[in-house]
Amino acid sequence: MKKHGLRPIAFLWLILLALSGCDAPTPTLMPTPLPQPSPPTVAAVEPLPYLNSALPIAARVDDLLRRMSLAEKIGQMTLVEKNSIVATDIADLGIGGLLSGGGGYPQDNTPTGWANMVDDFQQHARDSRLGIPLLYGVDAVHGHSNVKGTVIFPHNIGLGAANNPALMQRIGQITAAEMAATGIYWNYGPAVSAPQDVRWGRTYEGYSEDPALISRLAAAYLRGLQGEHLAAPDTVIGTAKHFVGDGGTAWDTGSGRYRIDQGDTQVDEATLRAVHLPPYSAVIAAGARSIMVSYSSWNGTKMHGHAYLINDVLKGELGFSGFVVSDWGGIDQISGNYDNDVATAINAGIDMNMVPFDYRRFIAALSKGVEAGDVPLARIDDAVRRILTIKFELGLFEQALAQRHLLAAVGADGRRQVAREAVAQSVVLLKNEDGLLPLSPDLPALFVAGAAADDIGIQSGGWTIEWQGKKGAITPGTTILQGIRAAVGAGAVVEYNATGNFSGDITAPGAVCVAVVGELPYAEGEGDSRTLALPTGEIRVLRRLEQACSRLVVILISGRPLLISEFVDGWDALAAAWLPGSEGAGVADVLFGAVPFRGKLPVTWPATLDQLPRGTYADPPLFPFGFGLTP
Ligand code: GLC
Repeated sequence: MKKHGLRPIAFLWLILLALSGCDAPTPTLMPTPLPQPSPPTVAAVEPLPYLNSALPIAARVDDLLRRMSLAEKIGQMTLVEKNSIVATDIADLGIGGLLSGGGGYPQDNTPTGWANMVDDFQQHARDSRLGIPLLYGVDAVHGHSNVKGTVIFPHNIGLGAANNPALMQRIGQITAAEMAATGIYWNYGPAVSAPQDVRWGRTYEGYSEDPALISRLAAAYLRGLQGEHLAAPDTVIGTAKHFVGDGGTAWDTGSGRYRIDQGDTQVDEATLRAVHLPPYSAVIAAGARSIMVSYSSWNGTKMHGHAYLINDVLKGELGFSGFVVSDWGGIDQISGNYDNDVATAINAGIDMNMVPFDYRRFIAALSKGVEAGDVPLARIDDAVRRILTIKFELGLFEQALAQRHLLAAVGADGRRQVAREAVAQSVVLLKNEDGLLPLSPDLPALFVAGAAADDIGIQSGGWTIEWQGKKGAITPGTTILQGIRAAVGAGAVVEYNATGNFSGDITAPGAVCVAVVGELPYAEGEGDSRTLALPTGEIRVLRRLEQACSRLVVILISGRPLLISEFVDGWDALAAAWLPGSEGAGVADVLFGAVPFRGKLPVTWPATLDQLPRGTYADPPLFPFGFGLTP
């Protein structure tokens, strides 16, 4: 059980005891102590049922629900972005949840700074009439990745290539422990998206195009996050997202300026059920307690208003008993008439609304909907029951604050080693002329080029410290170049030049060039790509090395396959390292053979754009799903 904080009721009991005049006996020296008056019996004050952790959760929920006003119930269904909340409103309105969106860090972006921020918010929740704790959420999608100093794991596409469920469970456990240290018990992950068109900017958030692979890894990760007991001090709830069909949208159907993100999944129900639904069955079987609705549409109907898929399929047919949360402002996209959209979304089965800004507007709209009879009170009670059940399951009424005893282990070397193993297992070897790889650590000279070779921010990608990620030394870790330098023997000379303008003799016998190139960080629709082309600066570096080097190894740092067919012939070896995160040394581990190559493509690697979405091939892809060399 989470360690018990002293609850309000206990204070009351102590005060009663003190007022009863029974003083603790004071020690006397010599004389036989006089018989002390027996303290008056004070009937033990039973805690209110919902505060009594000895009672079944269902009974605690029933008791609490009975005590709540409609306003307090609607408050519990309201999830607000932390920069938008007036702190006193947390108690006044009984707000149910807060979140940090991507990059939503406190001024002191350290684990302790986060713990202080979240605990401050929780203290406000304790001041509410019923003292219902907040559920604070964050996108810890590849480690607790908004926080400086935490372990940043490879993004999911790399973990799909590693395809190691035991490793996924370990990653979930570490992520949960680093979150709980900061008082955050709700992770908006795993994404169980099945990207069908890798032009999608969120391709890397998915494990694979294949629902069976997604199901296996997402279930393992969720078990790692949630552990055996949700009320344990180092467990959190995961959130499978985005329900349903987020990875199946069609090009040029995107929302606003996005080309494919948040677009329309134009498939029949059989395809939706075969490709996009199975991972939800898998995570529900693994104990999912929260599921996030997709911005996307299915054949023209916004998911945020889709009663058949949320109520009938997810909650009915699949028996999901947790709570459904909207995406960031997702309700607003349904029709544009906000009051109607709120009623539509809540009636469709959304329980918690990620507003995220104007929470009073949402509360007013839903209150109006209930009073007008557009939203049945029974629907409100069902939503609040689901939310409260999970707060009790997490033990938040007993201990809602940060598990500060876990702070010291955040970013620990042993955890970084797990991330480094994940990196090594995620790299996919796609070409290896004359068995060039793995390289010998004793090679005479190595010439390394590419901005991505020495940049933690680039190798980590989006959802790292900032929503969109950021170039530079944004958080502790090792770059790929640092890993290379540590891996080579004493006799090897390593020269690094981002643009490939080397001073040493790259034609010397035994010399090898390594180009680490790829994409700069992005997230969501900002990464939608019309061309899947390598950036022109990267092409310039590659062309220079293709001309000058006798042996050229290319390592791609990207969130997805890129169109490289016209270049591959000029490379002696090619490996996809995806977005490895903070432990870039894992790439060096396979480059020099400390760990064997084992990664397999979790998505099809198209040769041309007309092969997208997958399955509409005119010709064979450049590399098929499941491909990977193991020298
Ligand atoms: C975003 C994403 C979602 C994320 C949420 C909170 O827009 O769609 O995946 O969990 O907002 O950051």
